[in-house]
Amino acid sequence: MTFTSLPKVELHLHLEGAAPPAFIRGLAAEKSIDLSGIFDEQGDYKFTDFTQFLRTYEAACTVLQTPQDFYRLTLAVLEQSAEQGVVYSETFLSPDFCGGGDLVAWRDYLAAMAEAANHAERDMGITLRGVITCIRHFGPDQAKPVAHCAVETMGDLITGFGIAGDESKGKPADFAYSFDMAREAGLRLTAHAGEWGGAASVRDALRDLRVERIGHGVHAINDPALVDQLAENGTTLEVCPGSNIALGVYENWADHPIEKLRAAGVNVTVSTDDPPFFHTTLNAEYDRLADTFGWDEEIFAELNRTAMHAAFCDDATRTRILKHLEP
Ligand code: ADE
Ligand code: ZN
Repeated sequence: MTFTSLPKVELHLHLEGAAPPAFIRGLAAEKSIDLSGIFDEQGDYKFTDFTQFLRTYEAACTVLQTPQDFYRLTLAVLEQSAEQGVVYSETFLSPDFCGGGDLVAWRDYLAAMAEAANHAERDMGITLRGVITCIRHFGPDQAKPVAHCAVETMGDLITGFGIAGDESKGKPADFAYSFDMAREAGLRLTAHAGEWGGAASVRDALRDLRVERIGHGVHAINDPALVDQLAENGTTLEVCPGSNIALGVYENWADHPIEKLRAAGVNVTVSTDDPPFFHTTLNAEYDRLADTFGWDEEIFAELNRTAMHAAFCDDATRTRILKHLEP
């Protein structure tokens, strides 16, 4: 069974993490930057654990230096997603990698990404919304200018705020100031939690950052009361199974808790996180889920509707995309 033609909604994709290695190598060659150390012999991104993954990711970002680079990246990533049947994509955008969190620079980068998004919507029928993301291991002080960028540029494209990065560094409460700022401005909120941290990290993010969605959140499965709470409150999990397996959060697909979470009534959705890093695509994720858990087209269609109801967009956009998802 193949799900290529099924219209899909993806809520958890890092823009830089979706950059194909050949794209990054091309920019490195244009700028005479030596990035050979981050690629393996096949030309794929090289890393052995999560810490190294973050290092490779950040090294790849060093070749993204101008708004034009981000125009090209955004267009390439949206093209890649559209090929997977994605009709609506929510993508994490990081001012830290676009001028270091400076608002003046960020406006230029964002304008370039918005232009690419408009071209992609016109030519490929894919809609983009951006979730501005601070990076946990860069620390809470660095998150404040990032939140400021989010608040100052929220609108048609920027609709959310979140946090990614190394969950072992600091705690959600350290970032409450930035999340409060974003919430008060009207941005919708999500946080990476329960990927590396245990169920308590999901509880902490919900309590201290008051987010409505959780990136990953899979370790909630170890706390039945939390699973009930997620189901009752309708908290949506942005689950990225292939990422979890590639990074060693779970050893194999059969061990992944996505089906248990779904069966418990939690709003689970399926995304790819950083697909070229994890040798995955959204269609490959669907195929593996179908093989492992027997999920069929009806279940995937339901998950996509769930994702669209949890999407950080205005109601007119939601209604328009939901029409695409009707059987
Ligand atoms: N940034 C990009 N991918 C990430 C992941 N899986 N976890 C945390 N931060 C990330
Ligand atoms: Zn992520």
